[in-house]
Amino acid sequence: MVNGETTVLLTADEIRARVVELASEIRHDAGADGELHLLSVLKGGFIFLADLVRALELPVTVDFIALESYGGGMESAGAVRVRHDFEMSVYGRDVLVVEDIVDTGRTLAWLHRHVGAGHPRSLRTVALLDKPSRRAVRVNVEYVGFTIADQFVVGYGLDHRERFRNMPHIGELNLPVAGSGKTANRDEPASGPA
Ligand code: IMP
Repeated sequence: MVNGETTVLLTADEIRARVVELASEIRHDAGADGELHLLSVLKGGFIFLADLVRALELPVTVDFIALESYGGGMESAGAVRVRHDFEMSVYGRDVLVVEDIVDTGRTLAWLHRHVGAGHPRSLRTVALLDKPSRRAVRVNVEYVGFTIADQFVVGYGLDHRERFRNMPHIGELNLPVAGSGKTANRDEPASGPA
C-alpha cells in the first residue's frame, strides 16, 4: 500500500507476530534459569526493545547506548562515536544486543568489539531487520526478524531525518534523491544518531 511518502513493507500485525516468535527463540536459547542483559542501540531500537522485552517473559536487565556513525558517501565509513555509553557493567553477563537494522554491519561490528572488551559471559544480537546485500563487514547476528532488500525503510522506531519513528508499521521511503533515480539515500542516517 502506497501511503504518500512511504509504501507499507511490513504491517504492525506482521511485526507483532514476528517479535513474539523472536522472543520465543531467545527464551528457548536462554534456558530455564536464563537471565539476559539487553543492550538497546538508540535511537532506532527503542520501539523494538519495548515490544521485545515484554514478550520475552524472562528476568532481564536493560541498558542503552547511543551511537553516531559518520563518514561521507553512500555508506558509513565505520567510524563510530559514542553519544551516550551504557552504564551497567557487562562483565559475566549474558548480553543481548537489540538492534533496529543491520546495513553495512559496521556499527554492529564496532559495538561487538566495544561490548566484548567488557568481558560478558556471552554476546548475542537480535536485529529486527537485516539487509545482507549491503554488508561490508562480517558480523554475527543470531536472531533476525525480517530480511529485506537494499531499500531505505522507516517507521517502528526507524527515522529519516528524525521523522517517521512513530509509524506503527515499517514502510519504504518514497522520497526521490536528486539525480540518482533511487529512493532516500543512506548517508543521512549514517551521519546522524542511530
Ligand atoms: P550500518 O551500516 O550497519 O553500520 O548501519 C548503521 C545505522 O544506519 C543503523 O543502525 C540504522 O540506524 C541506520 N540505517 C541503516 N539502514 C537504514 C534504513 O533503511 N532506515 C533507517 N535507518 C537505517
